[in-house]
Amino acid sequence: MHIVTISGSIRAQSLNRALLQEFARTLAAPHTAQIVEIQDLPHYNQDNEEPAPAVVTAFRTAIQSADAVVIATPEYNHGYPGTLKNALDWASRPYGKGALTGKHAAVIGGGGGTGGIRAQIQLRQVLNGCGCHVLPRPELAVRFHDAFKDGVLVDPKISEMLGRIADGLIAQASR
Ligand SMILES: Cc1cc2nc3c(=O)[nH]c(=O)nc-3n(C[C@H](O)[C@H](O)[C@H](O)COP(=O)(O)O)c2cc1C
Repeated sequence: MHIVTISGSIRAQSLNRALLQEFARTLAAPHTAQIVEIQDLPHYNQDNEEPAPAVVTAFRTAIQSADAVVIATPEYNHGYPGTLKNALDWASRPYGKGALTGKHAAVIGGGGGTGGIRAQIQLRQVLNGCGCHVLPRPELAVRFHDAFKDGVLVDPKISEMLGRIADGLIAQASR
């Protein structure tokens, strides 16, 4: 399985990106994971759906080439970041032929005291709307203050959970 991963945070020291890097480490060969960047995507504009800007086409192609997608999202003001919604809107189009249609997907992430679970609930709903088959469980909402010290993951239970999510996603995509 080839799994494309997307961080909903584009900041350089993103802990959601760190979660995705740890997710990749839990994968056993021959499975592979690749982080796909979203920061250079322009604002979504339906006028530019087809032909799309080259950066959008590359993003869509990366998703199309994947067997499954993992998205790690922070919580911004009780929702997920607009940057991520913008990327999903590009990937969802053209209608009926979007790169996300029929794709298996898992949602993870982290944030403050609630671990960003509100953002994940919203993201799951939107991925359903994009035609994804979202892995129902396990859920992983990481409280970053507890799990990371100086940007380094210190809670081994998180790695174990990431491994279970990888196993679940691969099993679901294999069926
Ligand atoms: C604009 C903004 C809004 C935020 N709102 C929330 C929030 O509603 N709930 C929460 O748990 N954390 C909130 N946070 C904290 C982020 O979840 C936290 O900074 C997290 O580490 C960001 O993820 P990252 O490390 O991948 O960039 C907010 C952060 C920012 C910058």
